Amino acid sequence: MERLKVNLCGIPIDNPVIPASGTFGYGYEFARFYDINLLGTFSCKGTTLEPRFGNPTPRIAECPDGMLNSVGLQNPGVRAVVEEELPRLRQVFRKPIIANVSGFSPEEYAETCAILDREEQVGWLEINISCPNVQGGGHAFGTTPEAAASVTKAVRKRTTKPILVKLTPNVTDIVSVAQACEEAGADGLSLINTLLGMRIDLRTRRPVLANTFGGLSGPAVLPVALRCVYQVSRAVRIPVIGMGGISSAEDVLEMMMAGASAVQIGAANLVNPLACKEILEQLPSVMDRLGIQSLYELHS
Ligand code: SIN
Repeated sequence: MERLKVNLCGIPIDNPVIPASGTFGYGYEFARFYDINLLGTFSCKGTTLEPRFGNPTPRIAECPDGMLNSVGLQNPGVRAVVEEELPRLRQVFRKPIIANVSGFSPEEYAETCAILDREEQVGWLEINISCPNVQGGGHAFGTTPEAAASVTKAVRKRTTKPILVKLTPNVTDIVSVAQACEEAGADGLSLINTLLGMRIDLRTRRPVLANTFGGLSGPAVLPVALRCVYQVSRAVRIPVIGMGGISSAEDVLEMMMAGASAVQIGAANLVNPLACKEILEQLPSVMDRLGIQSLYELHS
């Protein structure tokens, strides 16, 4: 449908509703629920150079209006992604995907991205410098402008595809980190990743998560995400993908009014595997009700 089309770093996509990394596997897992080709694209589970088992369990905790996760970047490693996951995905999805990448040094990010850059089905590389659940990687690169720029530059040197840098809200000044990424060669930004939080079991008096802390996502974080997207999109010239707590067509439009060119939907997929499909189906009638002809007009 023409009125839902958006452009992401020079690549047109059919609509702005993108399942977020870590909530949609490698795509084919959701193809048994619906035809995932109705999505414009989606972001794959975060991939690292080597396979990772992830953090000890329990690594999920429920919260009012959201959830905590401390998954710890469990994934089969980039070689298995290229040899097994992407060929399986190709059988059910015909469009370019966003490859989400994590690492523990700028060189490691760059090496993983260079491998994925060669894959035809990879349209964008999403550099995750915002995972709060691992020591010495992820988040550690997203909390200062210098560290964020060092990863972005290292990846830029080894890749040709558009780079999206995924930012953390767990900083004093997200705008300075965003600007550093833009200067270092990012083509777009995605924000926000989860907010660091914890829960305590009243009976054991111990943290619920084995890793003590985890990342909060879900409807509770939407206002924080809107604030960050509003601030960042006014301070950079590259497109921003807004995410954090979106669970309805109205939330999609609110995020785009804040300045996002597209949105990602995360926790909602874990509550309802049909969430993205249903939000997409509702979007045109909500746009009609609000007098919005096309999504492009939200950015003019
Ligand atoms: C995880 O695997 O721990 C979640 C990924 C993230 O928060 O970036």
